[in-house]
Amino acid sequence: MKNITAIYPGSFDPVTNGHLDLIRRGSKLFDRLIVGIARNLDKSPALFSMEERKEMLVAMTSDLENVTVDIFEGLLVNYCIEHDANAVLRGIRAVSDYEFELQMALMNRKMEPRVETVFMMPAEQYSYLSSRIVREIAKFGGPLTGLVPTMVEERVRQKIAQNQVTATHSTLL
Ligand code: PNS
Repeated sequence: MKNITAIYPGSFDPVTNGHLDLIRRGSKLFDRLIVGIARNLDKSPALFSMEERKEMLVAMTSDLENVTVDIFEGLLVNYCIEHDANAVLRGIRAVSDYEFELQMALMNRKMEPRVETVFMMPAEQYSYLSSRIVREIAKFGGPLTGLVPTMVEERVRQKIAQNQVTATHSTLL
């Protein structure tokens, strides 16, 4: 039997129920699953710091014994090799995800043929869910019920309120 370690990489700003659904599925399939939060993405503006994202992911996956959470920098394939990971797990929600995911998977394979990308589909109720949508709904005070765990919802609301106070304060200065 092969011992498979997979990395589930992403931005997780913040972790959604769709991510958690995929982590649970992945934890059943692989011997070890490392959730890798990628640092220094061009994506901006970020809502949560890397450490805050990690904190939420750790809390939400604490019942899964073979799952760990880490922050990584640089190329994903290098991180995979450093951690003896033979697979990358990615979620595909809709056809629109496919093009970008195919490009990433093939480029990663070109750079590091020892690492395979495995795609899994989250439960269909999460097929329209993304961290970006969560941030946007929260910014305008919309409901997050069912999209993120309650603890994450509270952290998102706090963070947005805090950002609004900071923005108001800086316009007053
Ligand atoms: O959650 P996201 O934003 O869709 O995740 C994208 C992520 C983090 C998986 C991707 O940007 C990534 O792998 N970044 C690490 C740097 C890297 O290896 N880039 C080359 C990809 S071909």
